[in-house]
Amino acid sequence: MIHNKLLQWFDQNKRDLPWRQGRNPYRVWISEIMLQQTQVRTVIPYFQKWMEKYPSLKILQDAEYNDLLKIWEGLGYYSRCKNIFKTSQLVNSSLPNNYEDLIKLPGIGDYTAKAILSIAFKKPYVSVDTNLERVGYRILGLKSKTQRNSKRVIKFLEENQNPNRPGDYNEALMDLGSSLCSSRVTFCKECPLTGECKAYISSSPTSYPKIEISKKVPVYNIAVSLIKYENDFLITKRSNTKFLPGLWEFPGGKIEKNETPLEAIIREVKEETNLNIVNPIYLGNVGHRYSHFGVNISLFISSPRSIKKINMNQEYKWINLKDIHKYPLPKANHKMLDILKKLD
Ligand code: ADE
Repeated sequence: MIHNKLLQWFDQNKRDLPWRQGRNPYRVWISEIMLQQTQVRTVIPYFQKWMEKYPSLKILQDAEYNDLLKIWEGLGYYSRCKNIFKTSQLVNSSLPNNYEDLIKLPGIGDYTAKAILSIAFKKPYVSVDTNLERVGYRILGLKSKTQRNSKRVIKFLEENQNPNRPGDYNEALMDLGSSLCSSRVTFCKECPLTGECKAYISSSPTSYPKIEISKKVPVYNIAVSLIKYENDFLITKRSNTKFLPGLWEFPGGKIEKNETPLEAIIREVKEETNLNIVNPIYLGNVGHRYSHFGVNISLFISSPRSIKKINMNQEYKWINLKDIHKYPLPKANHKMLDILKKLD
């Protein structure tokens, strides 16, 4: 059994993380959602800010979604925030403590349900994330990343867990995977599991499992305009779409084939707002990479002759830029504001 040595190591080396203090199901839930596809060091300040403002489920249940998004701003994968909000409205005074009910809640998949159950409720589930999977592949000496091998790893990790300390077992493997046994570097001399590790015996532990070359993501060309009327700028609210739900942004859209950025911005603004903008001035380009695609944004500034005929399907506001901090914006829009500030 690997858990004795592993837990001994964990007791002496565990990371001091804010969600490991004052543990309760609410804190575990919020931290696990924030940690989905996001690194621990990125999550820490967001988690702290969230808990200052929403220290309990009860307080969260009275929150405004826009205020939650403001805290989430910059953390990415915004549908997670929407799902936290939805879940807070669905549960009563606490989160369910069983798999069947947890998995039905928005944003809680197999991994997160098992993490919450093991860490918050001490139920014997193993939540296999990329760190645990990598450690398992190395212990078993498996090189090719296949479904069959991943199943073997899960089975091995489940068979070796400590039923008395299921959450600690998971977090010990997470900590081991992120410190001594990361994907590119290992510190096997300090590892409590070398005695059971086949990758250690081979002379190149980091080649287990073989790293897959990441796929190239598509890059979309977008035209956006800061639209100024008198002293205010137009911002529009994204609807509850999957991508960046409820965030505010400047108007614009995809540049079509055979279209110049200038042609695109005039067309997009007309389609989106029914405004006719005159002589848009090009300010510069902004690049941003989201998880599955990149954007290359041609940024303009323009003014409409009149705003009488504005007509939009989305919520919109004319705001002074000194109030922009009240609105959660996607990262790319902050980069646009940086361009504008540099021109001032
Ligand atoms: N990643 C996901 N959950 C985690 C946790 N509880 N501790 C550290 N890293 C994590």
